[in-house]
Amino acid sequence: MALKAISLLCFAALLPFPGLGGRDGHSGLGGHDDHSAKKVPIPDSFTVTVINKFANNTVSYPTNATPGMPIFGVLNHLQDTNNNFNFTYNVDNSYGIFLESVNGVAGSTVSHTYWELLSKKGNNIKRLTVGIGCYQPDRNENFIMNFTTWA
Ligand SMILES: *[C@@H]1O[C@H](CO)[C@@H](O)[C@H](O)[C@H]1NC(C)=O
Ligand SMILES: *[C@@H]1O[C@H](CO)[C@@H](O)[C@H](O)[C@H]1NC(C)=O
Ligand SMILES: *[C@@H]1O[C@H](CO)[C@@H](O)[C@H](O)[C@H]1NC(C)=O
Repeated sequence: MALKAISLLCFAALLPFPGLGGRDGHSGLGGHDDHSAKKVPIPDSFTVTVINKFANNTVSYPTNATPGMPIFGVLNHLQDTNNNFNFTYNVDNSYGIFLESVNGVAGSTVSHTYWELLSKKGNNIKRLTVGIGCYQPDRNENFIMNFTTWA
């Protein structure tokens, strides 16, 4: 059941991208209106925050991205534009993209550590139920990656 919800969210996230999802806008029959498809939307601002309580370290990175972009794209953009941020991921054939490491710190099944994903809007923090490949942040949202442990 949870997996169905995840698939649904991933599907929705793909829709705005022509060629990946459904048909987004029709090109006129024989018309030369394709410049409308190239119109670049105004980017939204986000903050990406990396918390590692075990190293007493919290860093926030302001960034921006095209509205509707999944957080995966936002993180890639941030990595490309900020030398102080990097991340790695794995692609699982069944479940999609998994966050593996942030700024050189990787989760480990041996030490029961992982990067917890949280969304902060105003003072409201909630834990995400989907991965970085599916999650679409809202404008001005603070996307938090928190290095933590499981029991
Ligand atoms: C983090 O801060 C706490 C409290 O100030 C301190 O006890 C701890 O040793 C620090 N840990 C590291 C890895 O610096
Ligand atoms: C990623 O960031 C960490 C911490 O800043 C750094 O030590 C490491 O060299 C970086 N890795 C890459 C591939 O840039
Ligand atoms: C981040 O992880 C630490 C360590 O497990 C935890 O104490 C803290 O509550 C987490 N922060 C948030 C915002 O959930």
